[in-house]
Amino acid sequence: MFTIITGSQFGDEGKGKIVDLLAKDYDIVARFQGGDNAGHTVKAGGKVYKLHLIPSGFLLDSRVLIGPGTVLNPAVLAEEMEMLEEAGVPVTSEKLGVDAKTSVIMPYHIEMDGLREAARSEKIGTTKRGIGYAYIDKVARDEIRMADLVDEERLRSRLAEISAQKEATIVQMGGDASIVLDDEKISRYAALGQMLAPYVTDVSLEINRALDEGKNVLAEGAQGSHLDVIHGTQKYVTSSSTIAGSACAGLGVGPTRVDEVLGIVKAYITRVGAGPLPTELEDEAGKHLHDVGHEFGTTTGRSRRCGWFDLPLVKKAAYLNGYTSLALTKLDVLTGLNPIKICVGYMSEGQKLDYPPESTTVLSECVPVYEDFPGWEEDLTDVDSYEKLPENARLYVEKMEELIGVPIKYVSVGPAREQTFEK
Ligand code: GDP
Ligand code: IMO
Ligand code: MG
Repeated sequence: MFTIITGSQFGDEGKGKIVDLLAKDYDIVARFQGGDNAGHTVKAGGKVYKLHLIPSGFLLDSRVLIGPGTVLNPAVLAEEMEMLEEAGVPVTSEKLGVDAKTSVIMPYHIEMDGLREAARSEKIGTTKRGIGYAYIDKVARDEIRMADLVDEERLRSRLAEISAQKEATIVQMGGDASIVLDDEKISRYAALGQMLAPYVTDVSLEINRALDEGKNVLAEGAQGSHLDVIHGTQKYVTSSSTIAGSACAGLGVGPTRVDEVLGIVKAYITRVGAGPLPTELEDEAGKHLHDVGHEFGTTTGRSRRCGWFDLPLVKKAAYLNGYTSLALTKLDVLTGLNPIKICVGYMSEGQKLDYPPESTTVLSECVPVYEDFPGWEEDLTDVDSYEKLPENARLYVEKMEELIGVPIKYVSVGPAREQTFEK
């Protein structure tokens, strides 16, 4: 079985939590796009793990793979491996594999990301992890791949080939070009390459063989559907394709092998960084969502912007991904809000829309049209079955399911693995 999980909103929907929950049924869990801009939280056995690169299946028996469609900072990977080791979860080459074709995020990519962002009059609010510039190099065929990193001679010859152009770009951006050939940094990268060499693998081959043998594979998306580089709210997007089709391209698995696409939907909406968020709240309800939901970015610690659930955006995500089912997270955060609002459409240029407009500018001017639903006062965090939810919470879930048109399979009422049940 091949299952793909993606975020249906602007990221941070709780993908890490749901991947950890499902991993027990999967032999392989693989990341297919993005890099350490992602921050996925897993809470299990009383411990909290915040992962940027290692797939959220690391706690169970699954093999975890980082596919060639990702961009990888080897220093961040090494830190994560160390952190897990210290937490008693050793990451051996039996456990983790990284594809030989994965693009490496180099120090100059991070520098360029920061310089470009500083120079923008309208900021994107990137995570400054060098993601965009690493993908630019992949497409321009100027990348350094894992296969280069693990061979110091090859790493240095690749750098000799591309360094002049990188230096010129950094000077033109107003930065210090010495970062490109900084020997201390190159030696550090070469050492990381040596350390990571045993982990290098062919992810496409591993996954296809596993599927041939009747094994189960779970693809873990990063970011969210509306941060997609093609279908998102440009220019306020990330630099990779974040939707389900990207799992096939990024892992090297044919679309005919996909069995399920699970969308992760937060019971409200959040966004970190700039860009339109039609239902954004700056009132008491927004403060409630932010404070009760602890809405701070996992990667950058920035405050997440919060708003009511935006149906048009999730309807679009259902089309972009072809969701077969959904997991609804953070329902517990809505306790105490009354009424609870769902944005069922927008008013835009005198017209009512039930689907997001293509233009980011038009979307940013859309005024939400809300329907009110009765709230509930009960704490949901100990609820362990759908039947035990207060009636109004069930009404909210069922209304969401009806409006989105995709079955809700899982409901999550807290960060821990146990705080989830099937609907
Ligand atoms: P991801 O990027 O999609 O994996 O999500 P993040 O980990 O960045 O953010 C989700 C946050 O919400 C994390 O701190 C999770 O521990 C937490 N979380 C996940 N599901 C729930 C839930 O149902 N209720 C509550 N209260 N917190 C949750
Ligand atoms: P997870 O996987 C939320 C946002 C950034 C910024 C934009 C571009 O944890 O859901 P980038 O550094 O990618 O060039 O920044 O994308 N962004 C995320 N927002 N969750 C994420 O990942 C994100 N990864 C990137 O805040 O607005
Ligand atoms: Mg996150």
